[in-house]
Amino acid sequence: MGTSVPSLSVLCGDVREWAACYDGRPFTALLCDPPYHLTSITARYGAPGAAPAQYAKDGAFSRLARGFMGKTWDGGDVAFDPKTWASLGEHLVPGAILMAFGGTRTWHRLAVAIEDGGFEVFDTLMWLYGSGMPKNHDMALYIDKAAGIDRVREITGPATPDARTWTGYGTALKPAWEPIIVARKPREGSIVNTAMRYGSGGLNIDGSRIGADEQGRWPANLLLSHSPDCTEDACTADCPIADLGHEARFFYHAKASKEERDVGLEAFPPVAAGGMSGRHDGSLGAISYAHNDHPTVKPIALCQYLAGLLLPPETYRLQAQLLVPFAGSGSEMIGAMLAGWENITGIEADEDYASYAEYRLRWWQHAMQETVSRAPTEILRAMRAKARNLKLPGMDAA
Ligand SMILES: C[S@@+](CC[C@H](N)C(=O)[O-])C[C@H]1O[C@@H](n2cnc3c(N)ncnc32)[C@H](O)[C@@H]1O
Repeated sequence: MGTSVPSLSVLCGDVREWAACYDGRPFTALLCDPPYHLTSITARYGAPGAAPAQYAKDGAFSRLARGFMGKTWDGGDVAFDPKTWASLGEHLVPGAILMAFGGTRTWHRLAVAIEDGGFEVFDTLMWLYGSGMPKNHDMALYIDKAAGIDRVREITGPATPDARTWTGYGTALKPAWEPIIVARKPREGSIVNTAMRYGSGGLNIDGSRIGADEQGRWPANLLLSHSPDCTEDACTADCPIADLGHEARFFYHAKASKEERDVGLEAFPPVAAGGMSGRHDGSLGAISYAHNDHPTVKPIALCQYLAGLLLPPETYRLQAQLLVPFAGSGSEMIGAMLAGWENITGIEADEDYASYAEYRLRWWQHAMQETVSRAPTEILRAMRAKARNLKLPGMDAA
């Protein structure tokens, strides 16, 4: 596979402002991981005695709210607002396919907003992973606490009769999957007309077949990730790949590492990533120190696979453009570059995250060319080996 130099741009700004101003060529497809808006508007403003909602100039009160893990970017309503998707849709060709990650708690709102924004939702992928931790409240513990008894569950049992009654009850299940909504901007005329005129509307089935046998299996709407604690030899008990088998029935990827999220960002000081530990889902959060402190970094191999499904036929690739709104630290863009997209535009509101995306893209682009590989784990391994073999002058004498 060749390694031509793609055209990559990370724009720092609000996707809505970008959509209002953009007057360039329309995009062929869209891949994104928008905010999940995990703190609901009702919970924030609906409780009796809650502080009144504050309205921004545009009338959207929720934008001022703090969202998931106190990250202001996860508050607000940008992904739940049909206007966001309608305005992005204006810059897509007819038949363009959109993929958007969602959270199990809020994706229904995202799906409705995408649909109300003018797209036809035609599938939902299910991404299974093994790294999730339940955000549970132990009800017996809370009942004791309400009765004025603070105890540690593992050491002392329930203290009150009510707590004994509720022992074993909780409030949450272990997160083990995330949806990825798949939608299409309406075609112009027939499938054929749209494909011929715009190079859009098709999923790259043969280019995304699963397994090494002659034909490979038809790509399914189920995707799997290894648990971060799996090793080359053995999977952990909660790894979905262990349960569903390695028989290449579904797309799966090796565990993604801290190295993967950090490479290219060595110039940024490591951050004590306390704020990252709250999200125990398929993102690569939950590590203590990192150069990349974005809390919801998606695995590059997964993004590469999704972008590969969106890739148009060879003839259209030089012209084709992928739009990545809500680019964060750039995982979807990196995945798209490795999948073979030649023109990728990302939009990210936060300046630091936009810089991370630029640096990471630069590193992966260089590494892709150096190693002549497009497989993230292979690239990391080869670059590690290169770094080990790199002898600086005077090293032998030491
Ligand atoms: C879920 S994160 C994406 C993280 C990405 N998957 C990665 O691997 O780094 C969503 C991103 O959208 C950005 N964002 C939120 N609202 C935005 C807006 N109105 N315009 C542009 N970016 C926005 C946030 O700053 C955040 O980085």
